[in-house]
Amino acid sequence: MDHFTYIDGELCAEDVRLADIAASVGTPCYVYSAATLERHYRVCDEALAGMRHRICYALKANSNMAVLRLLARLGAGMDVVSEGELRRALAAGVPGERIVFAGVGKTADEMRAALAAGVGQFNVESEPELLALDAVARDMGLRAPVAIRVNPDVDARTHAKISTGKSENKFGVPIARAPQVYALAAGLPGVEIVGVDLHIGSQLTELAPFEAAFRRLAELVDALRAAGHAIRRVDLGGGLGIPYVRSNEAPPLPFDYGAMVRRTVGGLGAEVVIEPGRLIAGNAGVLLARVIYRKQGEGRDFLILDAAMNDLIRPAMYDAWHDLVPVAEPAADAPLAPVDVVGPVCETGDTFARARSLPPIAAGDLVAFRSAGAYGAVMASEYNTRPLVPEVLVSGSRFDVVRSRPTYDEMLRRERIPDWLA
Ligand code: LLP
Repeated sequence: MDHFTYIDGELCAEDVRLADIAASVGTPCYVYSAATLERHYRVCDEALAGMRHRICYALKANSNMAVLRLLARLGAGMDVVSEGELRRALAAGVPGERIVFAGVGKTADEMRAALAAGVGQFNVESEPELLALDAVARDMGLRAPVAIRVNPDVDARTHAKISTGKSENKFGVPIARAPQVYALAAGLPGVEIVGVDLHIGSQLTELAPFEAAFRRLAELVDALRAAGHAIRRVDLGGGLGIPYVRSNEAPPLPFDYGAMVRRTVGGLGAEVVIEPGRLIAGNAGVLLARVIYRKQGEGRDFLILDAAMNDLIRPAMYDAWHDLVPVAEPAADAPLAPVDVVGPVCETGDTFARARSLPPIAAGDLVAFRSAGAYGAVMASEYNTRPLVPEVLVSGSRFDVVRSRPTYDEMLRRERIPDWLA
């Protein structure tokens, strides 16, 4: 459920008309709903009720500082994958012990920053990383709390670019080798074993792959405990999919996911950590855009928007479906016709949708891409020297610009022409 609905014929975010935001901020821009973010966090929390648990929001999905502060105030922990994300989480007020630091390529500098911040868990993905972390921690006179990320060799049955739990993927250590890696870790004075970790992919639309992976994880925990390791936490990663409305995907409900977590790892008596990103932020945001032209091509119509692939890259990168809706509510009996929805960037990849069935939409109209709150603004770029898309947070009847659109002067000022070219 989200809070983007038509009120009196106008698409609103909570109580704010998107048309008012467009008039004040300009388009394209992202609009987030605070009530939806909060609701999604609480749904995750309730899904795990009865188990000791922590929700570490994967802030790669949407790392706007206002979003992070909102979630931090609800008690969220965070899953960070870089020093930049670590700094964001800390600046949002998340205590270090609620932060897990993930990622296949942590540098020594990043490890130092995370240790200094007192992060609660490093998710370590290889033996070389484990040895590097041990060295950095000893150098600082500290012990790094560690979970080894295991690769359970499970097919997540999601898009190949966001599948992570197969043995051919770069992530984690093969689950069969995990006992040896734990034995290695146990002998390192700069490392303290606290748990096990996995993450098998993103936008999963079935429970079965999770269930297979979590069962393997539970067996591993038994084996590790039998070998004398104190496994007090299991980190199950993120990945639960969301409905992209009309794409016919019906992902499992968080409540059913929670029940499955209970039956697979609930009996271990360990603290359960999950790292949802999309589930919290995805349907809490839309990308608001305006139609620049409607153009007739050879046998097809094009809607040319002022938003482009640099603002929302998911359709170009993953063939992702984002529902597109007009901001002015169409009549219930409005005829639908197929149109290609494209941006102004100079490549054919800048296509949001092909032959999409849409009600009449004309030049000048406002439209919104739904389910754009996750992996939208964070993946935006300035390709074609288009200003980085701004972000707006709505709460009730108020809205605030939480990242402003840079000016062209600001964009150009970051670059230098060297003296020899002056
Ligand atoms: N934990 C780890 C270790 C991850 O790598 C990820 C996502 C998550 C948690 C959060 O997954 P989520 O709950 O959001 O599915 N840019 C892609 C998605 C990339 C996901 C990367 N890892 C997209 O737009 O679909």
